[in-house]
Order: sequence, then structure tokens, then C-alpha cells
Amino acid sequence: MSSKFSKIGFVLAVAGSAVGLGNAWKFPTLVGQNGGSAFVLLYLILTLGVGFVIFLAELSIGKLSEKDPVNAYKNLAPSHKKAWSIAGFSIIGAIMIVSFYSVVIGWVVKYFIDSFGIWGFLEGSNSLFSFRNLTSDLALSEANFTHFLSEDILTQMLCFIFVFFFIFFVVSKGIKDGIEKLNVWMMPTLFILLVLLLIYAAFIHEGFVGALEFLFVPDFSKLSGDSVLIALGLAFFSLSLGVGTIITYSASLPDSTNFITSTLWIIFINILIGLMMGLIVFTFIFAYGGDPSASGPGLIFISLVTLFAKLGVVGNVLALAFFISLFFAGVTSAVSMIEPFTFYLINSFGMSRKKALVYIGIVVFILGTLCVLSSAKATSFTLFDKSFFDVLDFTSSNLIMPLSGICAAIFVGFVLKKEALIILFKPFMSGIYFEIWYIFLRFISPLAVVVVMINNFYPIEKMLAWF
Ligand code: PFF
Repeated sequence: MSSKFSKIGFVLAVAGSAVGLGNAWKFPTLVGQNGGSAFVLLYLILTLGVGFVIFLAELSIGKLSEKDPVNAYKNLAPSHKKAWSIAGFSIIGAIMIVSFYSVVIGWVVKYFIDSFGIWGFLEGSNSLFSFRNLTSDLALSEANFTHFLSEDILTQMLCFIFVFFFIFFVVSKGIKDGIEKLNVWMMPTLFILLVLLLIYAAFIHEGFVGALEFLFVPDFSKLSGDSVLIALGLAFFSLSLGVGTIITYSASLPDSTNFITSTLWIIFINILIGLMMGLIVFTFIFAYGGDPSASGPGLIFISLVTLFAKLGVVGNVLALAFFISLFFAGVTSAVSMIEPFTFYLINSFGMSRKKALVYIGIVVFILGTLCVLSSAKATSFTLFDKSFFDVLDFTSSNLIMPLSGICAAIFVGFVLKKEALIILFKPFMSGIYFEIWYIFLRFISPLAVVVVMINNFYPIEKMLAWF
């Protein structure tokens, strides 16, 4: 990225990155599995206490260096430049995420097409693709989804390839024409669609009240031992931290932008959209007797689809609106995952944007294809007992993101000069507010992240059992 964003462009681009499938699929799922409201409260506290703190650290690295993550660490570190630049290679994590993330956006495309309800003629055993009209039969809906994932490589690849070209086309346009334009249109569109869906949900009285209670009336008895850690992980993923995205976008942050209020806006929008998604999903789930703790894709691709189908034509229209907004949300996030590595190749090797994207594209295409193949029955394979999809997800979210978050906190908290930060922050945040952030940055946030990491490899509950 070389040119600067416009003021609103920065907020929209980062909000576009933050708001994505994580809000629609991870957030409701984890809230459902962890008992609802108390988990939401924890997530809010951790988003502000740790996410916000590390977000500002990554923003400082980007803004002070105006470089890609690798060169940012290299340029800013007063010594051990090479060693610090390794922290910047967390951008590899973003390439891993975009590979499986594009596959999931492909699922959204399939369900978007299904929502038209005109695909009946494709049904039947000899149809080439598994596009189906939405069905109100839960078992059939589940069978369709399973068939799509495990048997129908062709449809999955078709959807993935469409998403792949769409995303790379947008990134190829660069910051002004591609990313900013996309976000300026897509973010408000998504928001309006969600408001409409929410208004519709509010009329489904019983379900809506159930969802409100589930999300907002805290019941701490429902929290399990490691909910805190799950909530922290979600805060990281959902704010796009730890893979170079925030550093990269902040390199194009205009000087005059009040990045404190911008960041607070971004966090607010991210939380708001997550909660709106949650309210919509849970209203339907409660209204039709679904299970709020049903895991993963089940919530939106099986339960919610079934519920849309029950509503007839109105349901089809709502489903169209829902999946297209999810598609927009996913694309703006995916675009933000590709930009850091592109920026690195341009800075370090003097490559043209097009050439950099061809290299990255080849890698993403191969990894994405392997994701599709590894979970399909005929071509399935595992690595370390996990599907390739899960390996990418695990390595990026559970290893790279938290490690890189700790690096950013330590780098900004202990390696960068405090005076440089004071000057950077002064127009927007000073005095006691700055000092509180600085203490959180140096001690509280890295410690919290270390706890998350340890728990990923050796559950703390097990460790406590030693004593
Ligand atoms: N924050 C995105 C979501 O919630 O879907 C996911 C994401 C985007 C992760 C960009 C990492 C990233 F660099």
C-alpha cells in the first residue's frame, strides 16, 4: 500500500477487515456453546482490555514505520533488526487464513445461489452441481450440507474459484480503487441489510425475546472453565490482530485521523455487528426450537437455512439478503488478509502489485484447493490427525496470532521509545489515559495472551490437577 486512505476510508477498511465470517459464524457459535450472555460480557471486557490495547500497538508500528510488517519491525528496531523482522512474518498467517476463509466464503456463495429457489431443475441424482432450493426439513438440510462438503468437489471448487478471482481482482485494484471503494459501498450495505433482518426478527416476538435474554441477561453459572480463554481468542480473530493486517492498513493512515476515536468506532462497529448477527441467528433458532449450542457452520448453513425455508418466499428473500451481506463481509476481510504479504513483496523485492498477486494467488489457490480436497470423502487426507482445513486454522489462529500479538506488545512496550509513542498519541490521547494503556500494553495484555497460548497446548485445568 503506498497512497493514503481518506479519513473515512481507513475506518471502513479496518472495520471491513474486522467484520467478517468471524462475526457471523464464530461469534454466535461460541456464544451458543459458552452459555450466552456472560460469555458476551467477557468478550466485551477482553476486546477492550486486551484487543484494544494490542490493536493500538499494531497501529503504532504501522503508522510510525509506514511499511509492511516485516520491514516495519526491521526499520523501527534499534538493534537485532533481523530477529525482530521475524515477528513481521506473521503475515504468512494471513495467507493461511485467506486460503480456508475463501473456501468458506465459497459456501456462502453456494447458499446465496440456493436462496434464489429456482434451482429445483438441477436437483436429482444426475445433476452436475449440488445447488438445491432451501429446504425446511432439518435432516435434509443437514444432508445437503454434508453432501456438499464431502461429496461435491466440483461445486465447492467452482464456488471457491469464483471467490478467489473476485478477491484477487479487488486487491489488484490497489488501495484507492479497490479496497476503499469496496468498503465504502459494502460496509453500509451490510449494515442496512442487517438492520432490515433485525427488524424482521423483532416481529418474531418469542424468538426475539429469547435471543435478547440469551445474549444480554448475564448468567455466570453457564460459564465453563476455559470460556475466558475462548473469549480472548475470539477477540483476536475478530479484530484481525496478529497477522499484519492492522500494521499494514495503519501504514496508510492519514496524519490527521484521530486514530483513537477511529479505533473505538471500529471496535464498536465490530461488536455491534456481532451482536446483531447473534440476535438475528438466535431469534430464528429460539423461534423454531433450534439448538443454540449447535456447532460451527451448522448454525448458519443448516439451522438458519432451514428456518429461512420455513418462511417461504419471504424466507428466500431474507436468505438472499443474509448471504449477500455475509459475502460482502467475508470479501472485505479476505482482501485485508492478502494486502500485508503483497505490500511486503512490493517493498522488499520491488515487485509490481500484479506480479506479487500472481505469486500469492498461486499459493492461496493451492492451499484452498487442498482444503477442499482434504475434507471431501473421495480425496480426504489428514495432517497430524487433522484435516488440512483445520491445520491451517489451528496454526494461524492458535499459534501465529497470539505469538505475534505478544511480539507487538513487547516491541511497542519495551523496544520502541516511549517518547516516540507520546508524540504519536499526543493529539488524540495523553496523560493518564496514555499511561493506563502503556501499563496494559507492557504487562497485562502480554500476560493474558501467554495464558491463552499455554491453555491451547496444555489446558490449565489439567495443570491445576497436578496440585
Ligand atoms: N476479523 C475477521 C472476521 O472476524 O471474520 C477475520 C480476519 C480478518 C482475521 C483479517 C485476520 C485478518 F487479518
